[in-house]
Amino acid sequence: MAKQTLDRILQSQGFGSRKWCRELIADGEVAVNGTVVTDYRASFDTEGLAFTIFDETWDYREHVYLVLNKPPGYECSRKPSHHPGVLTLLPEQFTWRDVQPVGRLDHDTTGLLLLSDDGAFIHAQSSPKRHVPKLYLATAAEEVTDALVERLLAGVQLHDEPAPIAALSCRRVGTHRIEIVLEQGKYHQVKRMLAAAGNHCAALQRTAIGQLKLENLGLEEGEWRYLDAEQLSLLVPA
Ligand code: URA
Repeated sequence: MAKQTLDRILQSQGFGSRKWCRELIADGEVAVNGTVVTDYRASFDTEGLAFTIFDETWDYREHVYLVLNKPPGYECSRKPSHHPGVLTLLPEQFTWRDVQPVGRLDHDTTGLLLLSDDGAFIHAQSSPKRHVPKLYLATAAEEVTDALVERLLAGVQLHDEPAPIAALSCRRVGTHRIEIVLEQGKYHQVKRMLAAAGNHCAALQRTAIGQLKLENLGLEEGEWRYLDAEQLSLLVPA
């Protein structure tokens, strides 16, 4: 791995413009592997590099892969209009390094949301060919009947879709609750499927993507973490 100058390293990690990073370094705000460095031209091998800015330590990462337990009331769009964007829940440098949500959850949907600045990863995860199942816990406005579950499993016709769409699996988990697994990620898909099957979605939470399960991540709503290699390997078709 080629060495890089400290100002470039900090810029690549989202800590602001090169000029700003140079000022931080000159002001003695940056330490590398525990030692304060005031010369922005000092160069370092980025492999295994840890740097401290304003007393907070970060590992160098070529790309970041994050998971957020999304709370309600946040938009996933790049230019949020009615609610704050999900990026406001993350440290500011992730916005600078152009971290984006992988796919979208509605503003009122909660649960697992992946984010990354790796375009190839985002593209691959969002591809309709990928068939990574997504598990949702939906709370229905009306009581859940066997007929509703059967309809969702048989397939329902959504407006603007050429053919009926079926849940990969669906089961009742309470009087008003179902767990539904979908392979596609169409706009408002769970809500539209429930409506097409004769009920109405009152609340929605995404609880798993592939084998990555929210319950195993220990994240409260609004909390995020980096995904490690093992967790990334769970984002595959079953
Ligand atoms: N289906 C929906 O209706 N909304 C979401 O946010 C995700 C899936």
